Amino acid sequence: MGFLKLFRKDRQRRRRLDYYADGLGLRGKSLAAIEEPGFRKAFDTAVELNREGWGGKVPDIRWRAHTAVWAARHGLALEGDFVECGVYLGLLSLTIAHSLDFARVPKRFWLFDTWDGLAEGALTDQEKQRSDQAGWIYRGVYELAARNFAPFPNVTLVRGTLPQSLEGQPIGKIAYLSMDLNSAAPEEAVIRTLWDRITPGGVVLLDDYGWTGFDDQRRMWDGFAAGRGVPILSLPTGQGLILKPPA
Ligand SMILES: C[S@@+](CC[C@H](N)C(=O)[O-])C[C@H]1O[C@@H](n2cnc3c(N)ncnc32)[C@H](O)[C@@H]1O
Repeated sequence: MGFLKLFRKDRQRRRRLDYYADGLGLRGKSLAAIEEPGFRKAFDTAVELNREGWGGKVPDIRWRAHTAVWAARHGLALEGDFVECGVYLGLLSLTIAHSLDFARVPKRFWLFDTWDGLAEGALTDQEKQRSDQAGWIYRGVYELAARNFAPFPNVTLVRGTLPQSLEGQPIGKIAYLSMDLNSAAPEEAVIRTLWDRITPGGVVLLDDYGWTGFDDQRRMWDGFAAGRGVPILSLPTGQGLILKPPA
């Protein structure tokens, strides 16, 4: 079949779906969760605050953001802070901060990023190829990120390369950990450092786990999880979810 025919067929198939975004197509499923007004308002705010960094076209990752908000909300009842590694302008973490009215939450949200792109030296061949294709993205955005989180005095931006930038940060227990570095080596170093601080019942959310082309990260997380005897829930959004078992 020619490319044009394939393209038309794909477009027709998408038209029959109730939802299609971010590589996720749904039919016959309720969209109530992503249309709930509080969530919608928080996500739309995050999108507006991300627009400049995405050259105007912010990806529609509503369902991933919904998962992240659920995971963070679950963490509210647990002892410990929130941590995100790989923040960029905070499409996920800003949606959480606005959804949960985080300025009033008695927790700290630790945000780790270079705000200047991926750590080149740590990339596998597959990761390097992907990062070269993305090119401009993720660079020189610290000021924008700082502006985005300014309304939240209990959010701390830690600028630097992970895992080294964890050193000296007074992070105690962790109720919610979000990993989105697009790179296996620093993610592995981070989880090996932080795992023992995650509160039993706490959540580790993996943004890249189930995406094709992110095999190095999936293999790393599968190995880590097997070593700890914890299962990873693979979601159709491409995310992976780990709940730390009770002690
Ligand atoms: C996919 S983006 C994160 C997107 C973000 N979670 C969101 O909601 O928009 C990946 C981020 O990880 C950061 N990053 C990658 N490797 C890093 C490392 N070793 N140390 C610190 N930041 C890193 C990049 O600078 C980039 O901003």
